Amino acid sequence: MTRPLYILNGPNLNMLGQREPEIYGTRTLDGIEKHCASLAREAKRTLVFRQSNAEGTLVDWVQEAAQEACALILNAGAYTHTSIALHDALRLVPGPVIELHLSNPAARENFRRTNYIAPVATASICGFGAMGYEMAVTAALALAKT
Ligand code: DQA
Repeated sequence: MTRPLYILNGPNLNMLGQREPEIYGTRTLDGIEKHCASLAREAKRTLVFRQSNAEGTLVDWVQEAAQEACALILNAGAYTHTSIALHDALRLVPGPVIELHLSNPAARENFRRTNYIAPVATASICGFGAMGYEMAVTAALALAKT
């Protein structure tokens, strides 16, 4: 039971706190990371928490998580709706994959209804704001087997 939990964040999530707070809330990604790290610590797990605006970097990190992680939580941001590359990379992940969104994309613009992540995720958590990260950590650690 020593593998780390991975939380990967996609484009524009580095702007949380400033970015459309009426949709995404006022908590920063830094603050969310600190809280997730303390939840992981309580469960005696280490946490790898990263953000990138670059699709290829996220693909590299998903491939790394496939080798290293006990579970993967992914908020792919807008790449959720566009990225076959992330979809393909997720197919390589043997452990639980939790798709995460602060907002509920299904209740927003039509273009957010296309989703390349959900079909290759174990489960999805959407619409709970920053609290969704805490829920996802709890769920991922409960599902993790390695
Ligand atoms: C998001 C939802 C996506 O549709 C959007 O492009 C984001 C954030 C969310 O967390 O609600 O960047 O993933």
